[in-house]
Amino acid sequence: MKFIAKNTDFSKQQNAKLQDALSIVYVYQDSHCHTNHPALNKLCTNIIALGDFTGDAGQSLLLSSPHDLHSQRLLLVGLGGNISDTKQTYACTEAAFIKATQSIASHLKNTQAASACIYLNDITVDTRDQLWQAQKLTETIAHSNYRFEQMKSGKTKSHRLKKVTLISRKDIHMISEGLKVGTAVADGMRLCRDLGNLPGNVCTPSYLARTAKQLARGEKKLQCKILEEKDMKALGMGSLLSVSAGSDEPAKLIQLEYKGGKKTQPPIVLVGKGVTFDTGGISLKPGAGMDEMKFDMCGAASVLGTMQTLLSLELPINVIALVAASENMPNGSATKPGDIVTSMAGTTIEILNTDAEGRLVLCDALTYAERFNPRAVIDIATLTGACVIALGKHASGLYSNNNDLAEALLRAGTHTGDRAWQMPLWDDYQMQLKSNFADLANIGGREAGSVTAACFLSNFTKKYHWAHLDIAGTAWLSGAQKGATGRPVPLLTQYLINAVQ
Ligand code: BES
Ligand code: MN
Ligand code: ZN
Repeated sequence: MKFIAKNTDFSKQQNAKLQDALSIVYVYQDSHCHTNHPALNKLCTNIIALGDFTGDAGQSLLLSSPHDLHSQRLLLVGLGGNISDTKQTYACTEAAFIKATQSIASHLKNTQAASACIYLNDITVDTRDQLWQAQKLTETIAHSNYRFEQMKSGKTKSHRLKKVTLISRKDIHMISEGLKVGTAVADGMRLCRDLGNLPGNVCTPSYLARTAKQLARGEKKLQCKILEEKDMKALGMGSLLSVSAGSDEPAKLIQLEYKGGKKTQPPIVLVGKGVTFDTGGISLKPGAGMDEMKFDMCGAASVLGTMQTLLSLELPINVIALVAASENMPNGSATKPGDIVTSMAGTTIEILNTDAEGRLVLCDALTYAERFNPRAVIDIATLTGACVIALGKHASGLYSNNNDLAEALLRAGTHTGDRAWQMPLWDDYQMQLKSNFADLANIGGREAGSVTAACFLSNFTKKYHWAHLDIAGTAWLSGAQKGATGRPVPLLTQYLINAVQ
């Protein structure tokens, strides 16, 4: 699907006999609709007067070829009440615009129209500019049109809708910019969702490594390096290797270097948990719902997706992606509860539960990150079931040893609606990780499971500014809508965009 921006108005578009297959017009509760087309204004007044359509946020009404309006279909979408102080100007809340956007997206998913025009015109959304509006529309529409059909054998039918035009009466520079960012983020989210949705027998550590290599192919600014198990052994990554010990699939440490900034500019490092299937290992998980542990590489997928977005936006910044990829399986060579391993940092770890494997692959990748003298390191991981209990599917858990970094990530999350919520990293929790036999235990008991997992990681991140995103609740949906969400690609991308300035 193609998105374009155009500077025109409803009447001009109609006069030019450019008949829209589907015109989408925003309407406030008092029937105001931001166009100077008399027939359309009258239609809105009449329809609101009838009472069937109220203009409530997200409410919609589809009309076919209304009189005098040269459009096959007209979709009215409510923006709610006017929140502007004066009667002469109009503005809606951010929440109302988002509801309206979701309503538009669900219409476009099923429409038989080949093209649609959205008349953004000069609508004002509380504190958000037109760039944000265009980005939100593009991302939401692309997101709702996503289908995962790679593994179905039958012929798949394609969408009718081919072109979406965002129309404004004002300067469209901001809208074009929003389209560009929105499309790039949507592409990154698509890669992230595809990787997440692929089954564990296809999306193995080697598959992730091949995907990273493909991303870098022919790209001057992107370099890919794969560390094999023998390389990791030479580096002393005993913790990471203890997870792949029980699997026939070799672990891979994937390194992607994006050089958009000056050579001397310290990089931001993104570290993704890439457990391509988590059986729990010898501490085997219960059977029910275990298929969802194919999503245990969604942190890795979000890092690869963000790198793709970064490439298309060509941000002038240096970013390194590290993906710690492994399968967690219980074969005869598998790590056993009570086994003690030595991490790359030299810290010994007593593995009391082989199902707490995410922190074991991450800690070595985090130590490896030191060599880049990073400006900041952010790891992204489907780390704990406890985080799902704490925050559900709405917010990712955020932990950080640096307040500015935490603030920047929270801000990026609020801006994009891909939100995170900060959790404590207090020393008080560290004692839960005491081991009688090694430097650290890999589990901290029943209490505060998401916090103790983050505390475990914090032992390996003392040399730089670091943040950890626990995305166990946000990376995928269960039930009838089962599938990867593409989060937190929007948050990470926005953080990187803001980090340029
Ligand atoms: N990948 C899981 C975390 C997870 C579980 C995410 C369920 C989403 C839904 C992780 O490797 C794990 O198994 N964590 C354990 C840790 C425990 C053994 C301390 C958990 O959360 O139960
Ligand atoms: Mn596990
Ligand atoms: Zn896991």
